[in-house]
Amino acid sequence: MERSLSMELVRVTEAAAVSAARWMGRGLKNEADDAATTAMRTVFDTIPMQGIVVIGEGEMDEAPMLYIGEELGTGTGPLVDVAVDPLEGTNIVAAGGWNALAVIAIADKGNLLHAPDMYMDKIAVGPAAVGKVDIDASVTDNLHAVAKAKNKDIGDVVATVLNRERHAGIIEEIRAAGARIKLINDGDVAAAINTAFDDTGVDILFGLGGAPEGVIAAVGLKCLGGEIQGRLVPSDDAERERCEKMGIDVSKVLYMDDLVKGDDAIFAATGVTDGELLRGVQFKGGYSETHSLVMRSKSGTVRFVEGRHSMKKKPLLVMQD
Ligand code: FBP
Repeated sequence: MERSLSMELVRVTEAAAVSAARWMGRGLKNEADDAATTAMRTVFDTIPMQGIVVIGEGEMDEAPMLYIGEELGTGTGPLVDVAVDPLEGTNIVAAGGWNALAVIAIADKGNLLHAPDMYMDKIAVGPAAVGKVDIDASVTDNLHAVAKAKNKDIGDVVATVLNRERHAGIIEEIRAAGARIKLINDGDVAAAINTAFDDTGVDILFGLGGAPEGVIAAVGLKCLGGEIQGRLVPSDDAERERCEKMGIDVSKVLYMDDLVKGDDAIFAATGVTDGELLRGVQFKGGYSETHSLVMRSKSGTVRFVEGRHSMKKKPLLVMQD
């Protein structure tokens, strides 16, 4: 992959974030998602790559754009798998909450797991705790492993968990172990990435979230030297059959190399609403400001990018020639 692709991809997430942010707090999650998707699709047309969507807005018959199998890019350049989540946290934007992102992950063709749209059980940590956690170990053992790896007392450790009834057992066990919890209402991609940045104060992510989000988070953590382990959790026979057809053994733990193969992958995300790591979009009258993270696993480069965009010259964040 050309390294310039990283910066090109930020333009895509910036456009999606600015479009989605217009809907912040308006209670209209589908409108926010549509705006992000349309903007992302428009800017993708200007990116020099031959991409195929492997994780997107749905199957071809259910999503008008960014559907699985859709070709993206100008048709020249590297052949890549593309995972998109134009708006990760639709409810977050609708409510004006924390940590909504516009996010893209790409890897050389054939290297991203084509994760079906179902739940994945996940455990994610940053570089300091890589190799120390195990999705099959107890929550308590994993918390102690992270505490030891980070030279902390157990009471200093912060776990993040989606605030769902299905996680009642995990939450109880974290509390019993004496660790602290940051419960989130949505957005486990940001939560997983946050484990790799000390300043966020988050050490580990536990629990079930979307499998597509798991693959996107894996690309981000690969770039950061962190780790996510996952296991697909089909909720019914149809989902189980789907996994069988795809040749995925649902009893198997999915490690980093199962989620994203090879050593070259790029992750780009722009904050839509404020979060621990990225500021959300701000509209300043005539221009907007964005805050993005872009990283490449091959080089290990991690960039934070501040953008200022003239809404007059580029209303859709793409030059109209
Ligand atoms: P959307 O942006 O599609 O609304 O997803 C948000 C999200 O919170 C993800 O971050 C997470 O993986 C998933 O939903 C959790 O699913 P559920 O809401 O069913 O628990």
